[in-house]
Amino acid sequence: MPFSQKILRWYHENKRTLPWRKTKNPYNIWLSEIILQQTRVVQGTPYYLKLVENFPTVHDLAKAPEEKVLKLWQGLGYYSRARNLHAAAKMIVNEYDGRFPRTYNELLKLKGVGDYTASAIASICFNEPEPVVDGNVYRVLARYYGVDIPINSTEGIKYFKKLARKVMNKENVRDYNQGIMEFGAIQCAPKKPYCLLCPLNDSCTALQRNKVGDLPVKMNK
Ligand code: ADE
Repeated sequence: MPFSQKILRWYHENKRTLPWRKTKNPYNIWLSEIILQQTRVVQGTPYYLKLVENFPTVHDLAKAPEEKVLKLWQGLGYYSRARNLHAAAKMIVNEYDGRFPRTYNELLKLKGVGDYTASAIASICFNEPEPVVDGNVYRVLARYYGVDIPINSTEGIKYFKKLARKVMNKENVRDYNQGIMEFGAIQCAPKKPYCLLCPLNDSCTALQRNKVGDLPVKMNK
């Protein structure tokens, strides 16, 4: 079975029920992905719920005073995220007539939206075949494929994006992308991965070479 099929199967059997997994609305997915960029799911979930309750649509967010947005963000840190969120909401309302961008390239133009967030929204909401590469994905790919190129080197960033694109499931990239991130967060964890009980353990390069603890490699800059 190809790697992507194993990830899809694992995801369907193990995914957590999270509030943003009930929707494909790009506004909701955008909010959740901006929060989850630098924050863990457990910590970020109450903030997501609070923001959606106060600002149910992009219009509500756009017309809110900045102090209110920052106040609701209090405790999450990296406040530029909240400022960019607010600026992007205004841009969507004022320049796009309230219509959320629907492609990777259009999403990239939004303030605070980079390669990761554009890939996440395009794939989760519109099933556009763009691979996401976050910390979880680096770890899973480095271990499964036995890649020791530093993930924070120019070569590594390019290599992993290319590998991610090659191995993704193009038919269901929506679930595949969420699946590989979830698999990295829960099963292929950084410190104590559960290799003994992992359904991918018979084909994991790092496990076979006894290198799980050594991968991924990060360069001291
Ligand atoms: N981390 C960030 N976004 C995620 C998602 N959509 N699914 C699982 N983990 C994530």
